[in-house]
Amino acid sequence: MMGADLAGIEICVFDAYGTLFDFNSAVARHRGAIGPSAEALSEMWRTKQIQYTWLRNSMGTYAKFWQVTGEALDHCLAAHRISNAAVREKLMGAYLALAPFPEVPGMLACLKRGGMRMAILSNGNPEMLDPMVAASGQADAFEAVLSVDEVGIFKPDPRVYRLVEARCGVPPAKVCFLSSNCWDAHGAAQFGFRAVWVNRTGAPNDNLPGALAGEIRDLSELPDLIGVPR
Ligand code: LAC
Repeated sequence: MMGADLAGIEICVFDAYGTLFDFNSAVARHRGAIGPSAEALSEMWRTKQIQYTWLRNSMGTYAKFWQVTGEALDHCLAAHRISNAAVREKLMGAYLALAPFPEVPGMLACLKRGGMRMAILSNGNPEMLDPMVAASGQADAFEAVLSVDEVGIFKPDPRVYRLVEARCGVPPAKVCFLSSNCWDAHGAAQFGFRAVWVNRTGAPNDNLPGALAGEIRDLSELPDLIGVPR
């Protein structure tokens, strides 16, 4: 863990996909139907999905994350020469019930006991976020599930991060923002959040604006980092 000054935090705001919820669990659930390229497909799907959000931001052509996710999947299925409508349907369906990472329920319970406020801030549109959060059984942990859909632009546009103060009333300096997406953590830090990178894969830091407040390997390290007793 990198050193972090996270005193005075009022709310922990989590990214959804890849941070609380494992997008690889969609493909993992249907590995049999996809075949040997399942892992490669999953990785490419995520890469394209995020690229498409950045490109749509640049082009000024916002569309809901659900649509973008489907368009990215179609590209990846074509690239892997998979033309099976049932596979597409299964994978998109699985995206509505992605599994939380194993440490997440315990961490959320711990923060809740400690009186920490919690919210989600995601590229996902409410129609895809809400069923996933509900299916995970963790909905009660969060006072808000905030979506970029409200501002019609994706991360890391600052208008997205501004939603936290607008909806939860907490100024950026008192927000601890957690993302496994390094670029999202930098975007949040540049905006003014105290951003902690959840470096699940042990990747090197990205050379982007915005100084990170901390780095952890997974979310089980969060309570100690912000001084919430276990
Ligand atoms: C999200 C993507 C970036 O949930 O993971 O916003």
